[in-house]
Amino acid sequence: MKLRPLNAALAQGLLVSLGLLPLALARSASPTAPYRDASLSPEARAADLLARMTLAEKIGQMTQAERGAVRDPQDIATLGLGSLLSGGGSAPSPNTTADWAAMIAGFQKQALQTRLGIPLLYGTDAVHGHNNLLGAVLYPHNIGLGAARDPELAAQIGRATAEEVAASGANWTFSPCLCVVRDVRWGRTYESFGERPELVSEMTGIVGGYQNGPAPILATAKHFVGDGGTTYGSSTTDDYLLDQGDTRLSEAQLSALHLPPFEAAVKAGVASVMVSFSSLNGLKMHADQHLITEVLKGKLGFQGFVVSDWAGVDQIVPGDYARSVRKAIGAGIDMVMVPNDYRRFITTLTAEVEAGRVPQARIDDAVRRILTQKFRFGLFERPLPDPALASSVGSAAHRALARRAVQESLVLLKNRDGLLPISRTAKRILVTGSSADDLGRQLGGWSVTWQGANGRTRTGTTVVEGLRQVAPAGTKVEYLRTPTAAQAGSADLGLVVVGETPYAEGKGDTSDLSLNAADAAAVDTVCRATKCVVVVVSGRPLLLTDQLPQIGALVAAWLPGTEGEGVADVLFGAAKFGGTLPVTWPRNLRQLPVGRPQDTGAPLFPYGFGLRR
Ligand code: GLC
Repeated sequence: MKLRPLNAALAQGLLVSLGLLPLALARSASPTAPYRDASLSPEARAADLLARMTLAEKIGQMTQAERGAVRDPQDIATLGLGSLLSGGGSAPSPNTTADWAAMIAGFQKQALQTRLGIPLLYGTDAVHGHNNLLGAVLYPHNIGLGAARDPELAAQIGRATAEEVAASGANWTFSPCLCVVRDVRWGRTYESFGERPELVSEMTGIVGGYQNGPAPILATAKHFVGDGGTTYGSSTTDDYLLDQGDTRLSEAQLSALHLPPFEAAVKAGVASVMVSFSSLNGLKMHADQHLITEVLKGKLGFQGFVVSDWAGVDQIVPGDYARSVRKAIGAGIDMVMVPNDYRRFITTLTAEVEAGRVPQARIDDAVRRILTQKFRFGLFERPLPDPALASSVGSAAHRALARRAVQESLVLLKNRDGLLPISRTAKRILVTGSSADDLGRQLGGWSVTWQGANGRTRTGTTVVEGLRQVAPAGTKVEYLRTPTAAQAGSADLGLVVVGETPYAEGKGDTSDLSLNAADAAAVDTVCRATKCVVVVVSGRPLLLTDQLPQIGALVAAWLPGTEGEGVADVLFGAAKFGGTLPVTWPRNLRQLPVGRPQDTGAPLFPYGFGLRR
């Protein structure tokens, strides 16, 4: 028997009052519901939608799964998952823009089938361009942008990256890292803009680039808070030395050194904040209710949502997942990057709420924050990838922007006898060194794969290829892997490009910043035989104290990305040196960490140093 509308409403009201029908279910998701009205504010739409949701739907929104963990895409609809992510190197195969867009459109269609039709947030670490996507333009890593110290350039890079991310169907980047690196032995040094909070704060202009351009995506201020200030040797994760370790500072010191970039990002309207794996004085940041809720959300007034790091919740109380979940959500984490056993998370949190150990109000606050950002970024109106953006991936305009960023990132540290820019009289240039003709080494970590890798891992221009493109007519650029002294001696100029094997996160933590043996030998051979320029392609300063006297000119090129021509532009004088050191260049390891070194003597080169010629 079909009830007339009035009777149906009365019947529903009765069932609701008897507790037989959740109010949320009673308020169906009619197409004219206020939350579907794009003329209303994100906050009003979120409030209307929240009131319609069941506990299961709410907890689904708080759940983020890695794409590879979703065995059955129908889980997205069945469980009402709120977000998926691509971890480092996690991409469809083939790894093309079209394949990404098809993959994510498929996930979104599952989400749109749910009762309330809430689109997914799809996140990826686009930390120097859309580095999980083959063919994307890769920019200098953050330490190079810190050397350039050009907030407008950073904003432009954010806009360009957002276009390429949106073209692939993703709508959220886990960037920028606002870590203030205090010990360059840390494997995430290159993800930092530098060692001073004022420099890092200045570079938060990239947030506006990501979020306010023609193809806006959510940005993430990470990792909250103090990840760059951990004590050497304090990490208990794997064989890490610094990463995920313990930051031992008073709250006043933390607020002065590590908090300001997050204040700047909140002022810039950053949509999300990711919590750090690290601890503060022994307390896991993932369980730090004071800093996440009282400071970040309270004092700083952060209105977006807080996301955990990769299985970071599990680390709170190892072996006691329920207690860990309870502490994380209670601390103020709104979305959990589970990222694998998402069913266990959902079951666990549901039980905690039903037992009254996690307040319903905390769940509602978390979901309201997530929904508000989904409405703010137009996900309900534009849940699917826009094919018109595909042409932006790898575009000439983006490559030109990256080349300019490389030029601005180079720092001239020494220039005896005006060796640079390279004179036109230098007709025979010998190039060698482990990073002279190795694209993977100039890309660094977070490039195609999580850790990155040596070799030609994708398209791009190596340093020596750039030199050959930019060299004046009549100048011969010869690359030799292991030149002899005689070969070096016959050159007008020797150029040694030294560097590091790529790494990411704690796998890059090191107790040794010296040159690898082959590079040290190359510097010795070439610089003894002829005038020499050493270019350092690395994620951090390397120890060159012993080699410095024999080096004619020294350039820090950081991790320049796919457009290696930018290095050649500056070496040949087509662009000027303008970069300055974003981190102190130590004379020895005893001069680390900055601020609290054992050796308080003068560094090899101080923070902010950079010659113009
Ligand atoms: C990693 C990193 C974080 C990244 C996340 C997702 O462990 O700590 O920076 O955004 O996982 O890949």
